[in-house]
Amino acid sequence: MGQSVTILGIESSCDDTAAAVVRGIPGQGGGEILSSIVAGQVDLHAAFGGVVPEIAARAHAERVDICVEQALAEAGLALADVDAIAVTAGPGLIGGVMSGVMAAKGLAAGAGKPLTGINHLAGHALTPRLTDGLEFPYLMLLVSGGHCQFIAVAGPDSFHRLGGTIDDAPGEAFDKTAKLLALGYPGGPEVEREALRGDPTRFKFPRPLLDRPGCDMSFSGLKTALRRERDRIVVEKSGLPRQDRADLCAGFQAAVADVLAEKSRRACLAFQEAYDSPAPVLAVAGGVSANALIRAQLDTVAQAAGFAFLAPPLALCTDNAAMIAWAGLEQMALPDFDPHADITARPRWPLDKAAKPMLGSGKKGAKA
Ligand code: KG4
Ligand code: ZN
Repeated sequence: MGQSVTILGIESSCDDTAAAVVRGIPGQGGGEILSSIVAGQVDLHAAFGGVVPEIAARAHAERVDICVEQALAEAGLALADVDAIAVTAGPGLIGGVMSGVMAAKGLAAGAGKPLTGINHLAGHALTPRLTDGLEFPYLMLLVSGGHCQFIAVAGPDSFHRLGGTIDDAPGEAFDKTAKLLALGYPGGPEVEREALRGDPTRFKFPRPLLDRPGCDMSFSGLKTALRRERDRIVVEKSGLPRQDRADLCAGFQAAVADVLAEKSRRACLAFQEAYDSPAPVLAVAGGVSANALIRAQLDTVAQAAGFAFLAPPLALCTDNAAMIAWAGLEQMALPDFDPHADITARPRWPLDKAAKPMLGSGKKGAKA
């Protein structure tokens, strides 16, 4: 059995500044989160209906030290007590990533600690190992404001993309929909709440790319279809009555859920074809996995395909630094791990190096 390691993690790639302390044994599933601090920025970006990169970068630079101090204090440790530091080095908004990387480099140099740069998406993808000690390989759907992809997770540094969005991420589509309907930010929870009172069958929104084979997805056309219906109603009724708005939300949400469910079904088949796992698991991460309808449909599809469905606690599905610390810990088990490797901020950093890049780059950073 290996030795227990304590890692400080730092995350600042989008609109959450976060620091966490995690303990575990490199190479072994299941970790202990000693602390996890997340300073969100929703209040700073709400007026703009989306993340403003420069505002985000400044906030990260101001808050990262404070988050680290809080994370260490809550864990009851000093910096000298941690064995290593892990920091998100990409993909994401360059200003934010640089704030975190610079802070981590300073801390590592000052305290003489090994430092490792983590791919943010690897953090999400490895979370089920931290929370549930899941064995490799498993299938992960990462579905957030900036990302949407199916990943076969075969090892700490072995990720195979089975498909992804070719334009918007679903969270981005929820946020844009909310903006079009004069709902608040972030849009996902607002649209979900409105949808509860709406009729999902009234508007026939498209289910893009379902007519094509494979697991790639598209969500930008959905937003255009919704805008068209909204404009039609506004002209017809000189405004947007509440019931119409609720029906639009319900129709939009149903379309996103149907696309994610059908593509997940195909991803399950593709995963089993490649890995033939005796106990296959479909795991989710990302803010959109908070959506009850989407969760329920994914669960149904997974079960029908003979997969267990795993959704880590929401605080670990959305951006946090515990997943970055954990990914650092997993890196330490790799034979080629170099604790002194130089780290540079990489705004674009695909998880699956062999897969060809997906199109598009959203406001929340590059889609890998
Ligand atoms: O993973 P996350 O916290 O941040 C990143 O994008 O990295 O995801 C945030 C996204 C936002 O776009 C938000 O609108 C969406 O997740 N979201 C939801 C729900 N809660 C958050 N989308 C649909 N339904 C929800 N309940
Ligand atoms: Zn994320």
